Amino acid sequence: MEISLIGKHALVGGSSKGIGEGIARELARCGASVTVMGRSEGKLQILVNELDSSNGQEHHYLTTDMMHLERYKNDILEHLKKYPVDILVNNTPGPPPGFVGELRDEDYAKAFDLLFRTINFTTQAVTEHMKSTGFGRIINVTSVTIKEPKPELVLSNTIRASIITWAKSLSQELGPFGITVNSILTGYFDTERLEEVNRKKAERSGKSMDELQAEMAAQNSLNRIGQPEEYGYLVCFLASDKAAYLTGTAIPLDGGYLRSV
Ligand SMILES: NC(=O)c1ccc[n+]([C@@H]2O[C@H](COP(=O)([O-])OP(=O)(O)OC[C@H]3O[C@@H](n4cnc5c(N)ncnc54)[C@H](OP(=O)(O)O)[C@@H]3O)[C@@H](O)[C@H]2O)c1
Repeated sequence: MEISLIGKHALVGGSSKGIGEGIARELARCGASVTVMGRSEGKLQILVNELDSSNGQEHHYLTTDMMHLERYKNDILEHLKKYPVDILVNNTPGPPPGFVGELRDEDYAKAFDLLFRTINFTTQAVTEHMKSTGFGRIINVTSVTIKEPKPELVLSNTIRASIITWAKSLSQELGPFGITVNSILTGYFDTERLEEVNRKKAERSGKSMDELQAEMAAQNSLNRIGQPEEYGYLVCFLASDKAAYLTGTAIPLDGGYLRSV
């Protein structure tokens, strides 16, 4: 099976590093033209120059801040005027941790803007073009915690669960136009965010980073943590015409972390 995304333009949220960067690199390897997004202009510029362009495709970057919804909306609309999107990867930064008893009403409102409203806005903004071409791919980065919630990650558990049902509804609405909508339930991936989480745990527990990394890996059936490019492989498949019959799903990509079916 060959996956070719030549002639397609992909917009990838939160992609100056981490999972988003892994996705952007693999999409470009499959021939797509990619727009990477984030706050760090320097990193985005370097990444755009490093992305595979062996199919003659051009890549772009969009500097924006998803924490400021109105600015974000303007930035997206300006970018789409120049570069209509065939493949949208909805990847936002994660919300802060917190237990139910600690979180305030405003924390939920902020997290809803970040995790739900940015995604809904971006998706609505790209679908007209997708409808006009009869092809579109919407892929949402979510988390395994929507199936097996972690008590300290209430904002993520709660609001990301709503993305899954939103995506299912949308898949039914957009299916007749040749647009698929799928979500990925993310397990542990080797990124700066994960390193930061372990660094904080190491300070609290006195354990070394290596010990904590090994404990994390041991929670997965495959006994290791995923690499960002492995995330990219699944996204490339979902983005391709080979996945034309796959929509409305929520696929765990977690090395066997989830115990439930
Ligand atoms: N890694 C894991 O094990 C794991 C597990 C479950 C779920 N997830 C979820 O997967 C997503 C990606 O995680 P990751 O590990 O790749 O995170 P990461 O390494 O921290 O990368 C986050 C990306 O988002 C961008 N970003 C951060 N704040 C932003 C903002 N305000 N506006 C625009 N862009 C922003 C960052 O770029 P700039 O700093 O340049 O803005 C970066 O490109 C997150 O939602 C996370 O909760 C990750």
